[in-house]
Amino acid sequence: MIFGARADDRYRLLAPVLFVSIVLMAACHQGEYSGTAQASGLSPTPAVASAAAPEAALAALGREIFFDASLSASGRQSCASCHSPDHAYGPPDNLAVQMGGPQLDRQGMRAVPSLRYVLNRTPRWSKAFVSNMAERILEGDEPPAGGFGWDGRFNSLHEQAAFPLLAANEMANRNAAEVAGKIRRSAYAEDFRRTFGADIFASPERAFMQALLAIERFELDDASFHPYDSKFDFYLDGKVSLSPQEQRGLALFNDPQRGNCTSCHPDRKGADGSHPLFTDYQFEALGVPRNPEIKANADARYVDLGLCGPLRKDQALQSQYCGLFKTPSLRNVARRQVFFHNGRFHSLKEALQFYVQRDTAPQRWYPPGSNGIEEKFDDIPQKFRGNIDIVDLPLTRTKGQAPVWNDVEIDDVIAFLTTLNDGYEFQ
Ligand code: HEC
Ligand code: HEC
Repeated sequence: MIFGARADDRYRLLAPVLFVSIVLMAACHQGEYSGTAQASGLSPTPAVASAAAPEAALAALGREIFFDASLSASGRQSCASCHSPDHAYGPPDNLAVQMGGPQLDRQGMRAVPSLRYVLNRTPRWSKAFVSNMAERILEGDEPPAGGFGWDGRFNSLHEQAAFPLLAANEMANRNAAEVAGKIRRSAYAEDFRRTFGADIFASPERAFMQALLAIERFELDDASFHPYDSKFDFYLDGKVSLSPQEQRGLALFNDPQRGNCTSCHPDRKGADGSHPLFTDYQFEALGVPRNPEIKANADARYVDLGLCGPLRKDQALQSQYCGLFKTPSLRNVARRQVFFHNGRFHSLKEALQFYVQRDTAPQRWYPPGSNGIEEKFDDIPQKFRGNIDIVDLPLTRTKGQAPVWNDVEIDDVIAFLTTLNDGYEFQ
């Protein structure tokens, strides 16, 4: 794929930076991002970060960078343009994918995820290596989990942050030096020097790396990423009760025979009292229909297969992973206007109807094939369709059966999911 090759080239230019990053990660990364600044294992890093850079100063710079549209080739796009703080750091509109590039006329390939809650809780990418039959029986066949992006291809937030800054259809800088030059000309250049040393801009690679670490610090530490002030949070703390309709929705969401949603989107408190994030960070193939709003899809040879590529490279030979995407958190989902990795649906109602009617009324979701019968799972090549989940309820029914939820019940579930919106105000 053309854009894949471009991304590769960019990463070759970035090699020194990524090398530092890898050394850094190997040196001090722990199993997963922990909620606290101290435990994230990223600072202080004598090799790159100025040992004195206090975390608050780092996060403050990260905030400047996150909202700075001058860091894009168009001069009109910042991280916040796609990850809008007024929309739970998700997309501000109903576009399936956002536009980017120097003229803001190049389409993205995937829907923008919300950055709320998950960033300091996402585990590092992992897959169960099952070496022998005995282990397989004992451990079961756990799907892979973790990492950032719909395909989990980034193991840290600083690694991830380089991607939008350099991607030709996002902020579209040519290389690290171009980004560093823009920061040198920014209003916060002086703070940057104060934090990282007067000569920081003498090495554009170092300046770029520090910018990535600052973004990461902001994303991990800033309270705006994890407010825990939804109605459901207050309900878990016993401060408010759910309405009868919200309770019915919660019961359907939990019911292993009717909704079974909690098996992938857990909604119980952790043993430590932590509030649930409605994702298990695991990968599944749901068979979401192909989205004609994504122009690349006009070419039948193009398919976004998630874990096995084309954006992700290292699992390309794992054909059992083709079509799998990471389970997103459902917090603030009722405020979104685009659903699933390709933004195929534009209302929560349609997204939920898809879940319960995918198998009972496939003709509603998939276009007819050459034989006139709907081509089920049309966004995944035939040879990979065996990867699609048909074993977890409610994805187990057959054509013509009644769906597990009717439209009234779907409205109940929507009422429940709306309690996951942040910013609940007591009457
Ligand atoms: C043009 C829109 C756009 C811009 C600008 C943008 N992003 Fe994103 N962001 C996306 C999309 C789309 C994804 C999903 C990418 C994928 O799965 O391949 C994403 C994914 C992410 C993720 C992974 C979230 C997760 O839970 O896995 C993080 C973190 C992130 N972006 C941070 C940033 C930062 C930091 C910036 C600025 C340096 C930025 N983004 C700029 C569109 C954008
Ligand atoms: C087997 C695991 C699994 C089960 C069971 C499951 N989900 Fe999901 N859910 C996922 C995955 C994986 C995705 C992303 C798939 C994609 O984009 O291709 C997802 C995406 C979603 C989305 C879109 C969110 C967004 O930000 O785009 C909604 C809404 C959702 N699920 C609700 C539900 C509800 C309601 C149920 C119960 C009927 C449910 N899920 C059951 C794994 C699961």
